[in-house]
Amino acid sequence: MLETFDGETCHDPWSGPKGDRIFSVMAGNWSPGQTTPIHDHLTWAVVGVCEGEERESIYRRTDDGSNPKRARLEVVGERINKKGHVTLLGRAGIHRIDNVSIAPSLSIHMYGLDIGTAERHSYDPVTGEVSKFVSGYCNVLRDEESD
Ligand SMILES: [Fe+2]
Repeated sequence: MLETFDGETCHDPWSGPKGDRIFSVMAGNWSPGQTTPIHDHLTWAVVGVCEGEERESIYRRTDDGSNPKRARLEVVGERINKKGHVTLLGRAGIHRIDNVSIAPSLSIHMYGLDIGTAERHSYDPVTGEVSKFVSGYCNVLRDEESD
């Protein structure tokens, strides 16, 4: 059963037969105007919109990745995802999600690892800075940014 918080909510990761944490499921509950940083997951991701509308911007790196603290990004897609839309992202996927509507949105996110403990990256589109973060099982990164 999923717990409910404002922002993201994560189920305990599912374990494989050897105790490997093979995937995790998270509910994203975005308030109007709420946004994520540009971020990666470093694994596959499936995001399905259940309620409301979410703008999703998809990015790709245009640098060679040789500097772990800097990245150049370009937007390769932007769309409004409505109820029933499912996005599939590969391991190299980088995106940002915004609730641009006047109502809360709800989406279900599934990842190929324990997303709450995985070290991932956020990207500053202006400075090119790449930052490491671990999201935990609630909306830690976004909460810190809104303080
Ligand atoms: Fe994401």
